[in-house]
Amino acid sequence: MDPQTPDHPPDWLAGLGSRPCRYYRRIGSTNDEAAAWALAGAPSGAVVLAEEQTAGRGRRGRAWVAAPETSLLVSVILRPAVSPEALPRLTLLGAVAVAEALAAEGLSPGIKWPNDVLLEGRKVAGILAEVAWSGDERSAVILGIGVNIRRGALSEAAAARFGATTVEAILGRAPDRGGLLLRLLERIDCWQARLSDEALLAAWRQYSVTLGKRVTVASGEGVVAGVAEGVDSQGALLLRTDDGSVRRLLAGDVTLHGNGL
Ligand code: BTN
Repeated sequence: MDPQTPDHPPDWLAGLGSRPCRYYRRIGSTNDEAAAWALAGAPSGAVVLAEEQTAGRGRRGRAWVAAPETSLLVSVILRPAVSPEALPRLTLLGAVAVAEALAAEGLSPGIKWPNDVLLEGRKVAGILAEVAWSGDERSAVILGIGVNIRRGALSEAAAARFGATTVEAILGRAPDRGGLLLRLLERIDCWQARLSDEALLAAWRQYSVTLGKRVTVASGEGVVAGVAEGVDSQGALLLRTDDGSVRRLLAGDVTLHGNGL
């Protein structure tokens, strides 16, 4: 895939300083562009941003749709020196970094395993971590993050259908996207250096709205219900099922009972 020529970055990105950045008014997916740039040699920490995606991706093959100029649509190129087994922790890292950036705005975010960031029980952000492969070698990890910032980010129908919200709707004003982005990148940098630390899991647990709850998890292996007892060092969910056994789940969609989300 040929990379698209970046647009001139707007003023709200001035705070990025010398961090390598490619900004697009409109692009397919920032994750795809970041993967192409990573393979072409982009350094760790480089970011791809867009005002609009025409092929934005969510987890499990879903589309990620946001109206132009209403969201943070960002992909961060990371080159973590960790074993493949530790890679799922990058998803947790992304969720913790978003939660911390929102908490710094005075909000009270929660994380629904594995990667949904919630405000007042509704999804405000999602994380999609993907590996950029160069042949058989892992070239980089692309940490794709979408945050619904402004009220118009998604239609009322979509918000109701997906149980979604925006930062503006909860905060009562639109936050400064540039400031939120800088805080988010600062938290990603910080946690990337501590990817193997227990502290990352502790931070994730602190924001978790899943642990201790009765949940249903839908995954490629079917639907299973139980109590979410913990996450292990790889970020897998440990689910105590009704027969008393513990299932270890690496991926899936969680429904919290009594909440509907
Ligand atoms: C999810 O909750 O399913 C994950 C959503 C991730 C969306 C972001 S938006 C920026 C980046 N580019 C993409 O195509 N997807 C991620």
